[in-house]
Amino acid sequence: MRAPETGSEIDGFRLGELLHVGTMASIYRLVGPKGPLPLIMKIPRLGAGERSANVVSFDLSDEQLSRDREVADREGLALECVRGDMADLSALSSASFDLIFHPVSNVFVSDVRPVWRECFRVLRPGGQLLAGFMNPSFFLFDHDEAERTGMLVVKHRLPYSVRRTADLRPTEFSHSLEDQIGGQIAAGFSVVGLYEDHWLDGTSPLNRFSPVAIATRAVKGDVEQPAAADGDR
Ligand SMILES: C[S@@+](CC[C@H](N)C(=O)[O-])C[C@H]1O[C@@H](n2cnc3c(N)ncnc32)[C@H](O)[C@@H]1O
Repeated sequence: MRAPETGSEIDGFRLGELLHVGTMASIYRLVGPKGPLPLIMKIPRLGAGERSANVVSFDLSDEQLSRDREVADREGLALECVRGDMADLSALSSASFDLIFHPVSNVFVSDVRPVWRECFRVLRPGGQLLAGFMNPSFFLFDHDEAERTGMLVVKHRLPYSVRRTADLRPTEFSHSLEDQIGGQIAAGFSVVGLYEDHWLDGTSPLNRFSPVAIATRAVKGDVEQPAAADGDR
């Protein structure tokens, strides 16, 4: 099946920028009436009756993996679930993936640089890493307090880790942009896209003042530079 055209509509969503064309799937940014949305859609590149293969869900949590298994079985998708720490992907072969989708999850590890190095290792040349992470400024504030008082008060020097033993939520770690973006570059990636994203106002008081999350697109390998326009020479 050929990748659908940018601009076409699928299930009520309009396809925007084509972010990745893999052997298994194409990934598009979605657009709404006012422009790009903070959403992507993955469209399997399969013929009728074919099943996808070679998709791995990697997570530290057995509970998360069992939910992934449940949904994959329900939808008839081929999915391999692998349990492990994102900083050590030794269960996965080098140069064996076309695409890594790393949703906002490195907030749970103290050091993100090994994660970028491992992502670089397991991607094939030309493979892409789509990563989401928190805006570092999120951790300047005590969000539990902000929810109680309605006031955002700068409280923490960065980087900061939030230990939430009382309600059993996991410890969260802030990371600098130098570690998040510079760390990808240091691992060997070319960062070719950067997007800022909001939550909903009800989700965080900070949302009214600043984007809360950041996403990057990075490529393993050299990226062709667009030809310079006449006036640039
Ligand atoms: C925001 S959820 C993303 C869940 C799911 N993979 C998705 O894409 O929707 C973050 C996930 O990171 C996982 N996680 C936390 N620490 C981890 C680690 N050190 N290595 C791998 N996964 C980890 C959590 O178990 C949780 O499922």
